[in-house]
Amino acid sequence: MATNGTELDGVMAAIAELSTGDISSPTSRLQVIQKCQSIIESLQDPRMVAMETLTSVVMYPCIAVLNRLDIFKRLTIGPLTATELAQQTEADRWLIVRLMRAATAWGLIKEIGPETYQATPASFVLAAPPCAAGLRVGEKTHKILDALPAYLKETNYQNPGSAHNGLFQYAFGTDKESFDFFSSDKEHVQDFNTFMTIQRTQGQQWTEQFNIASRILDGVTIDPAVPLVVDIAGGVGQDLTLVKKTLPATITTTGQLVLEDLPRAIDGVPADLHDPDFTYLRHDMFTPQPVNGARIYMVKHVLHNWPDNDALKVLQNIAAAMTPGYSKLWILDSVVPDTGAEKKIVALDIAMLGFHGALERNREQWTTLLDAAGLRIIDLPVLPDGYGLIEAELAV
Ligand SMILES: C[S@@+](CC[C@H](N)C(=O)[O-])C[C@H]1O[C@@H](n2cnc3c(N)ncnc32)[C@H](O)[C@@H]1O
Repeated sequence: MATNGTELDGVMAAIAELSTGDISSPTSRLQVIQKCQSIIESLQDPRMVAMETLTSVVMYPCIAVLNRLDIFKRLTIGPLTATELAQQTEADRWLIVRLMRAATAWGLIKEIGPETYQATPASFVLAAPPCAAGLRVGEKTHKILDALPAYLKETNYQNPGSAHNGLFQYAFGTDKESFDFFSSDKEHVQDFNTFMTIQRTQGQQWTEQFNIASRILDGVTIDPAVPLVVDIAGGVGQDLTLVKKTLPATITTTGQLVLEDLPRAIDGVPADLHDPDFTYLRHDMFTPQPVNGARIYMVKHVLHNWPDNDALKVLQNIAAAMTPGYSKLWILDSVVPDTGAEKKIVALDIAMLGFHGALERNREQWTTLLDAAGLRIIDLPVLPDGYGLIEAELAV
């Protein structure tokens, strides 16, 4: 905390600098946010920072309850009082007041008068199906990270590295891998698939930010005899739909775009995402890739679910299907910077540790992993928040 004259002058100078800050692009906006955060850190009493850290555990369960009561959704229609919310939800009015007070303090709701609440922009995002589903997923999986201290103590603080024998299995008392464990829970699978349709980049969609149409079309003659894009473990197909939107209709004809995932995902593709031009393949990515010679094989938010030994098998299966000089692999995942990783990335990294004994990888870890699978990186653009496209081809 800045206390002496020189330190306080430094803080005041940083505040003055903000007034000339550029907020026209996602990059510059992020830089301004980072400056604001650093100003807040300079002004905060460290005892209060410690108190906030100690009490941070209460946030998630409270938000999950508000989600169960559809509070965010109800507020998207207009402001409501605690009494109105209690009537609509049949929950206790005083309980509503306490939870809404908390949500207001966290900036997720706005109090516009005593016991009167209005949606904030964040409430609208929380009310939408991907976040609402994600909050329900979190209710069932929260106990994984609760078990982290006991698990690491028992395992002598070794870095978890197995999807089959780690914190997840310890927390749930199972020997099943996490996707497998939940596969029979239909509500969870549906919620998980809906959660995965969430947009994870700031501003434009990833397809725009990485200019993917030119990455597919430029520099080659497209071979219409083989599929154009195969989305491996593509969930319910939201990304393939985005890819299709960026390409001319003449080349995304029937059979050119292939969605692969386990049967439980393919069977759960909702009607609004179903595309009669897509090929839907129920495929286990740990078995040989059935589509040979496609222009693009993409794995988005998939390899971060798997420790290196499993991720390598997935990559080897893809590499075996690729055509040298034509096929490209796209990995969409975090690329952890050497310093100053964003909160979102570090949270995902620890979540992957807990759920799958897996990790978010840095540039060096991606390079080593791809190298082991006989692939080499040809481009690696990274968005300001650390979200990256790792574009690779066969190393031969
Ligand atoms: C984190 S989700 C990512 C989904 C999608 N690519 C996206 O970006 O939203 C991981 C996906 O891996 C799929 N998956 C898990 N194990 C798999 C396997 N053995 N073979 C194929 N897909 C698998 C899951 O069904 C799920 O759709």
